[in-house]
Amino acid sequence: MHLTKEEERIYKGEEGWTKQKAMEIMVAIGDINHASGLIPIKSAHVSGVSYKTIGDAFEFINRLEGTVEVKSTLNPIGMDIEKWAEMGISEAFAVNQTKVLDAYKKLGISAECTCIPYLIGHAPANGEHIAWAESSAVLYANSVLGARTNMEGAPSALAASLIGKTPFYGLHQSENRKPGVKVSVNCDLADADYSALGFLIGNLVESKIPLIELPPSSLPSRDELKHLSAAIGATGSVGMYHIKGITPEASVDEKKLNLEPDEKIEIEKEDIEAFYVSSSEPDVIAIGCPHCSPIELKRLCELLRVECEGKGRKIKKNLEFFIFTARAVMQNTQMQQIAERIENYGVKVICDTCFVVSPAFEHYDCVLTNSGKMMRYVPLLCGDAEVKLCKTEDCVREAF
Ligand code: F3S
Repeated sequence: MHLTKEEERIYKGEEGWTKQKAMEIMVAIGDINHASGLIPIKSAHVSGVSYKTIGDAFEFINRLEGTVEVKSTLNPIGMDIEKWAEMGISEAFAVNQTKVLDAYKKLGISAECTCIPYLIGHAPANGEHIAWAESSAVLYANSVLGARTNMEGAPSALAASLIGKTPFYGLHQSENRKPGVKVSVNCDLADADYSALGFLIGNLVESKIPLIELPPSSLPSRDELKHLSAAIGATGSVGMYHIKGITPEASVDEKKLNLEPDEKIEIEKEDIEAFYVSSSEPDVIAIGCPHCSPIELKRLCELLRVECEGKGRKIKKNLEFFIFTARAVMQNTQMQQIAERIENYGVKVICDTCFVVSPAFEHYDCVLTNSGKMMRYVPLLCGDAEVKLCKTEDCVREAF
């Protein structure tokens, strides 16, 4: 990979050990992927920050010096910064998690601890080059916002943030963003159907970028696209999809993109409905993977009101209900009031973390969720729990 004179200097360590290590990572990744050089990025999003997953490897982050070169944000950590004791997190874990967080903060990374940076004021512009980890955010940024990022891992996103550049290959290049398979969806979709669709698509398309053709009557909301992105990212290895009218390139550069790939997959109503078949009894309901938006929180509050108001109903015995969101979402009075009302119905609103990356949720047998990403990751990271997919409304109904 070609390096400029300035980049060579960094590579040789003339800008210090930290930048040298970051540049070594960039060069190694660039060489493997035959990148021609590095390109400047506007932002980085760093994952792997929960002490549950990073463990004592964070000591390495502690050794890094200086600050990041571009606006950089952090994925969820392993606990709510304010309510960790209430969550049952041990003091030892909390101490270590705080050290991890401090190590990233010292580098100038914004510690908002969420997987939805694009919904809390860090949305990249159409065409902007970025280096984001967190697959759900990568798919959303590429496919809905038209930004350009590869699916970075924790080390490469951190290295890119420290250099302010990333190797120019993969989804940074227009020729690699063309769809390779058309997925025709032959039924209307709503709510968790998009989680089911994403789960299916990720499994079916392997590394080919899908062009998803929805029925004209299905116009997904931003939150539904968030769930679609998360589920595709969880089960597949593609970093983007196209939907005409939503993905900026699929709307503007139709001819250049070849929006008629030869390979075709059809998705029928039965394929989606198969996800909802389960007779297991949940002992926990978890919503907010990816983190809930303000719109989702308001809707949940209203669904809870309809279910409870005037009926004196309480959440079933032996059942817990959690909602996960970003602390930044809660930073206005209206959202704080909504969270309070939600909690008055017996539901716990948790910030900074999530069901998957926190050690507090590893003892359940059956999880009810509207998230396709949780269907994939709970069995891998949260013990042996079975995961049952449900529409949001049915999750709330099931609680009482
Ligand atoms: Fe976000 Fe945790 Fe899901 S990081 S996408 S809520 S697994």
